Amino acid sequence: MKAAIIDQFGGPEVFKIEEVEKPKIKLDQLLVKVKTVGINPIDWKQRNGNHRFVLGAPFPIVLGYDVCGEVVEIGNRCYKFKVGDEVFGVLDNKYGGALAEFAAGHEKCFAIKPKGISNEEAAAFPMVALTALQALRDKINLRNDQTIVFNGASGGVGHVAIQIAKLMGAKVIAVAGKSSKEFVSQFKPDEFIDYTEQHILNTNIKTDIFFDVIGNLTFPKIKHLLKPGGTYLNLNYIHSLTKLPVNIFHQLFSKGKKAKTLLMKHDSSDLDLVSKWIQEKKIKICLDKIFPLDKIHEAHRYAEQGHNKGKNVVVISE
Ligand SMILES: NC(=O)c1ccc[n+]([C@@H]2O[C@H](COP(=O)([O-])OP(=O)(O)OC[C@H]3O[C@@H](n4cnc5c(N)ncnc54)[C@H](OP(=O)(O)O)[C@@H]3O)[C@@H](O)[C@H]2O)c1
Repeated sequence: MKAAIIDQFGGPEVFKIEEVEKPKIKLDQLLVKVKTVGINPIDWKQRNGNHRFVLGAPFPIVLGYDVCGEVVEIGNRCYKFKVGDEVFGVLDNKYGGALAEFAAGHEKCFAIKPKGISNEEAAAFPMVALTALQALRDKINLRNDQTIVFNGASGGVGHVAIQIAKLMGAKVIAVAGKSSKEFVSQFKPDEFIDYTEQHILNTNIKTDIFFDVIGNLTFPKIKHLLKPGGTYLNLNYIHSLTKLPVNIFHQLFSKGKKAKTLLMKHDSSDLDLVSKWIQEKKIKICLDKIFPLDKIHEAHRYAEQGHNKGKNVVVISE
């Protein structure tokens, strides 16, 4: 099958389009004919080799986690899907494997594609929506009487998380650059802070939750913005683990303020909930750029700049 592979870590130029072996599924996996693939920051971080000490270097590597496609084969221990189902989901393999004509993943990675959205939109949703949902509902237990700041409000996770926070009834303060103001305003945040005009650390905001989506701040730096008992959530999981001792120390003198991090979990029922909200038009995904597979270098180069509004997607087949 045709795939975008890397056989070394490095910049976007390391991608090659080559023929590789089609994945063989295990009993609990589905094989999907891939139509579209959503790009996430984890893809270009892994292409750069950031996770090589944890995941190794099993070249040739096929990157990409977010996928939309059609089920073409089913393991004997899969019960939820049938051949021909249109699905969307986040793959659970080391390094993903979505940027190819076919991809395999555990049944729990997938849900039936929501009706009424394009294949491009469906591939853009899974990782950011699961992350936003699991952060706000499970990690933070966001309530409708709380204020939440989103640092990095206009990117993939941010623009979906704002919508879910508004659904939950919270007061939303969105932080992004000037060029993102109009984009973010469609989600009706209660306040917008342009970080190019005013640094968030120099404001007199008092918030229950500081969701550091982009992850460029730390608990010690922002804790003065939290109300007593407030929570700082940083999405940069590995970095946050290294900061654990420092954060525990700072929590001791912080009036019950807490620092947390999160690692998205594969959960088919959470994807079903996301799908329900999409179909009820409670949340939507915004696409920034769409690329064909042979422009994967350009797709990664653009995504890595970190200023997309919404999501970037790669089309593999119609
Ligand atoms: N732990 C997990 O399970 C998990 C899951 C998903 C994602 N993540 C991580 O979460 C992070 C965000 O992911 P994403 O998909 O939302 O990324 P993204 O789409 O690349 O985010 C880009 C956005 O970040 C904003 N931004 C850039 N610099 C900023 C700054 N200095 N201050 C505030 N905003 C800034 C940009 O807005 P402007 O253009 O206006 O600057 C842009 O819209 C990534 O590091 C990703 O790896 C973690």
